Amino acid sequence: MMSEILLPKNWSLQWLEEVDSTNDYLKRNKAAHGSVVVADRQTAGRGRRGAPWVSQSGDSLTFSVKLQPDEPRALWPRLALSAGLAVAEGIGKLGIEAGVKWPNDVWINGRKVSGVLVEAVDDGVIVGIGLNVNTSEFPDSLTNTATSLCIEDGVERTREEVLERILPSLAMWSANIGRAFPDLVERVRERCVLTGNTVSLKTAEATYNGTVKGIGDSGELLLETQDGMVSLIQADEVRITS
Ligand code: BTN
Repeated sequence: MMSEILLPKNWSLQWLEEVDSTNDYLKRNKAAHGSVVVADRQTAGRGRRGAPWVSQSGDSLTFSVKLQPDEPRALWPRLALSAGLAVAEGIGKLGIEAGVKWPNDVWINGRKVSGVLVEAVDDGVIVGIGLNVNTSEFPDSLTNTATSLCIEDGVERTREEVLERILPSLAMWSANIGRAFPDLVERVRERCVLTGNTVSLKTAEATYNGTVKGIGDSGELLLETQDGMVSLIQADEVRITS
């Protein structure tokens, strides 16, 4: 039974037992700005690059939010940074330090606790978030790379209390992709887990190896390679190599 959740002004919440994917649900339903849909179970949850997003029923918070930003579509990809920051801040309010792994993941102690999938639709954008809350075990392929809030501090939490910490930050930072973007970038810089690390970074065109120098003013990753500085606006995969 869902307890009452305090929502950002004019946002609405639907909590479903089962759905294919909360992103797809919002797409089909032509949802209004601020519509949040949470599912106990997704039968066809999707991650980035067409990967499935598998989560155990009840242990994981899987939700999507429909947004209709005032800013031009070209700026909507910035919502991935807004969402990652909002999740990291929400986790912080629960007493656990979380970082943003540019561009779409949230990490705790070097492991992924949450991923963000941003998809544009005709009349807006859908921000989908998967967050491991009470998960105690992962499949072998993920044990070294994934974590949950409960694994980190031993506390079991309701998904409602986690969601309630994230939504206000998401409402605020998703409204900051235009003129106020520098504030958002500053906060992401403070939490960027890649800065100073040597990484291997894949894009659709190439693989880059280098040291991350930080995040630029447009939210791009600044990478120092053997051939000089490269600034990347998107990446398929970023792996820390040392
Ligand atoms: C990633 O790290 O690859 C992104 C994962 C995004 C998963 C969430 S769960 C809620 C929403 N519905 C989906 O089908 N995907 C996103």
